[in-house]
Amino acid sequence: MSLHNRYPAISDLKLRARKRIPHFVWEYLDSATGSEITQARNRSKFDDILLSPSILHGEFTPDLTTTFLGRDYPMPVGIAPVGMSGLIWPGAEQMLARTGAEQGIPYTISTVATQTPEDVAGNIGNQGWFQIYPPRDAEIRGDMLNRAKDSGFHTLVMTVDVPVASRRERQTRGGLQQPPRLTPRLAIQAAQCPAWLAGISKTGMPRMKLMDSYADQKTALPSNQHVGYLLRTSPDWSYVDKLRAQWDGPLIVKGVSLPDDAAALQARGVDALWISNHAGRQFDGGPATIEQLPLVRAATTLPLIMDSGIEGGLDVIRALALGADFVMLGRAFHYGLGALGEPGAAHVLDILRQDMIANMGQLGTRSISDLKGRLR
Ligand code: LAC
Repeated sequence: MSLHNRYPAISDLKLRARKRIPHFVWEYLDSATGSEITQARNRSKFDDILLSPSILHGEFTPDLTTTFLGRDYPMPVGIAPVGMSGLIWPGAEQMLARTGAEQGIPYTISTVATQTPEDVAGNIGNQGWFQIYPPRDAEIRGDMLNRAKDSGFHTLVMTVDVPVASRRERQTRGGLQQPPRLTPRLAIQAAQCPAWLAGISKTGMPRMKLMDSYADQKTALPSNQHVGYLLRTSPDWSYVDKLRAQWDGPLIVKGVSLPDDAAALQARGVDALWISNHAGRQFDGGPATIEQLPLVRAATTLPLIMDSGIEGGLDVIRALALGADFVMLGRAFHYGLGALGEPGAAHVLDILRQDMIANMGQLGTRSISDLKGRLR
């Protein structure tokens, strides 16, 4: 039976991943902050966006290819940075980097991934983006940027929506600590997930290796205060200027949701904006990302990426219709890995591709640029 028969939707992968990933790790992956209202809103607001189906438009195969920041992509979809990826599924960073390289889509490695840029350098091909949590120390910042660049990461993503730690109550209840440690309670959960445990016995207990190279990690921290916070400052506007001056490749700012901020970032010479609310993991009282997208679109001429709440190809199409140029998913790729191992990441892309083709056929839109403004 083909993967599409067994797992036709990302929700099918999520169901299987939940059984194969230990509970405390699942809580890290799947949770948000507070009562998770914003996480739910990120999703539900997509459903309010209606598009215009069309009839009698004749036969065609939609063209999903696009150009973003001067590079060609087979579809406007990429892999978002996810902290502790290799804890969620052992070996995740290498698997996602390979998937990005093989499929020709961007893979963004997180500052707080379990692998360093050097570790995945051999796997990313030409698709590496590096996400930076701004380190307090200028020397560490310079060193991180050099290491990313030397490892082949050509695009820098500065995350700005984590000015302070969020409370992440569900994650705290789950009991994950930093660095991760299998307490007896967590070891029992891990024992129920043999594929995950077998993977971890090969990789060792994952740690934030890039952070490790700059910090003394003897202290165990609660899960919502990983060692990244020790290195991090709450950056201000001048930090954007510093990064702009230090990085000669494309610079993207991630975590934008207000039109005025978008305009101010454009004035500072940023190359693209990434509309995100960290998938509801930081603040539970704000709007959904998809609600902000048209407002930001009206305020800037920069290329726009968006994330948060995308569950299938129809949501990708909705985002493009509202003015996004590219979308990124984080959790979905980890549902794929958790369900099926490495082939799961490519299967997520395949689901999105097939969803997009089917829905663009209904809309009568032949290309990605045809989608803009196709609102009812
Ligand atoms: C998170 C941080 C690591 O959302 O980005 O967990």
